[in-house]
Amino acid sequence: MAKISNKKTQSTIFLIFGGTGDLTKRKIMPALYNLFLDNWLPENFAIIGSSSSEMSDDKYRNELLTAVNQFSRKGKTKKEDWAKFSSHISFQSADITDSSAFDCFGSQIEKIKKEWNETPSIIYYCAVAPQFFSIIAENIAKAKLENDLKTTRIIIEKPFGSDLESAKELNKKLLCIFDETQIYRIDHYLGKEVVQNIMALRFANAIMEPLWNRNHVEHIQISVTEQIGVGNRGKYFESAGVLRDMIQNHLLQLVCIIAMEPPINLDADEVRDRKVDVLKAMRRIAPGKIDAMSARGQYSSGWIEGKEVVGYRKEKNIAPESNTDTYAALKLHVDNWRWQGVPFYLRTGKRLSKTASSIIIQFKEVPHNIFAPEESGPPQKNRLVINIQPDMAIKFQLQSKVAGLEMNLNTVDIVFDYFGNKKSESPEAYETLLLDAITGDQTLFMRADQVEAAWELIMPILNYWEKNKAQDFPNYAADSWGPENAEALIAKDGYHWFNLPEKNKND
Ligand code: BG6
Repeated sequence: MAKISNKKTQSTIFLIFGGTGDLTKRKIMPALYNLFLDNWLPENFAIIGSSSSEMSDDKYRNELLTAVNQFSRKGKTKKEDWAKFSSHISFQSADITDSSAFDCFGSQIEKIKKEWNETPSIIYYCAVAPQFFSIIAENIAKAKLENDLKTTRIIIEKPFGSDLESAKELNKKLLCIFDETQIYRIDHYLGKEVVQNIMALRFANAIMEPLWNRNHVEHIQISVTEQIGVGNRGKYFESAGVLRDMIQNHLLQLVCIIAMEPPINLDADEVRDRKVDVLKAMRRIAPGKIDAMSARGQYSSGWIEGKEVVGYRKEKNIAPESNTDTYAALKLHVDNWRWQGVPFYLRTGKRLSKTASSIIIQFKEVPHNIFAPEESGPPQKNRLVINIQPDMAIKFQLQSKVAGLEMNLNTVDIVFDYFGNKKSESPEAYETLLLDAITGDQTLFMRADQVEAAWELIMPILNYWEKNKAQDFPNYAADSWGPENAEALIAKDGYHWFNLPEKNKND
């Protein structure tokens, strides 16, 4: 197996702001625990969880134990493993808006450094609401907490800004205190196993590159469909909508990986430069064209797996006349030599029929059909299906002869299935990302210009949707595939959405 790099970890102090929050419990702590179990964490590591609550270290550890038992992909913890891991955890109550409260972190860091007798990496993790990102950075500076160019890092969760202006403002504030090489902006989609494998698929296989362009690709579909509704995140979602929540970050990053030019190596900035090139090459949609190039939707009530679910407007903390989008679809173009004329269709939404994320590359039909009698038309087009989740598989759909005495064709799949039924063996995105932050690898993190370029692209749509309220909301039922206007968006080009899983299907 070709190993590209060895991940080298050094002693690390992890200081988590938002230490009692949902993200820490569901994602960060299970990820750190699994890294510990798989021997990725250094011998010397300390996790300091912080929030405004008051509690003892033991109480904090117990809360985390309950969470890890519930959310870890490896299931329930073993007593002795947890005892070892949790001995590295402590809790510090602090008001993050008060810089004087940060002194306590300084003394804790000093104490640990003395104990270890070495200079560790310090990772400040902002697992808090976005309005606190810059306050935390400012208070780190005011309290003169450790900030060394080489060993101090700050992890910023999403959402990074709520529009272009606020993203620029946040970048400006962070960059007054930290260098870009210290800032790790998370987009957890980049840490997903199959998403990372797209780099290998494209750039470690000589057969891909000649096909990966306008000469052979007809169109590309990127779908992230979810069965869940907004749940208890109504307050946040109402001010965001799915265009901000999913497309500005996750889906555009998937477009970048599919459309980027080959980097000359895997250096973080080289890879991120190539991704930014894609965002820059994306055609800006003029306000007059937005209706023709996009579709939006909001779910009404329905039945999901035998349970009745309410419509978006009846969810908690949602306005009864809300105009927020819970579904969005876009048609995009990448204006460069490779992709000229190849449409990229993106769609995502909540309360849809299935939870599935996939990228589908639809190739062009054969130039001349020697097989079919006239009535059955040309053979089906080849398709590369990249299933990110819940299936983690890459399939090439090809045409093949049906065994028998006649020359009949059908579609067959050449499949690479990652783990079959053993999905829990795949590291979670947060494990990958946290390990990268510990080792100082920024490749899978968003750079300032990447975030801003993505905002720049969707701002005209956000502004247009804001000004021109949808008249037909709610316009799709829970457990459907979204609004009719999304079908029309792609149907007018002669295509249709591939609703996964589509198995060996001639359509
Ligand atoms: C988050 C969004 O970034 O991604 C959520 O805020 C969404 O609304 C989630 O549900 C989807 O992530 P995943 O990994 O479950 O596909």
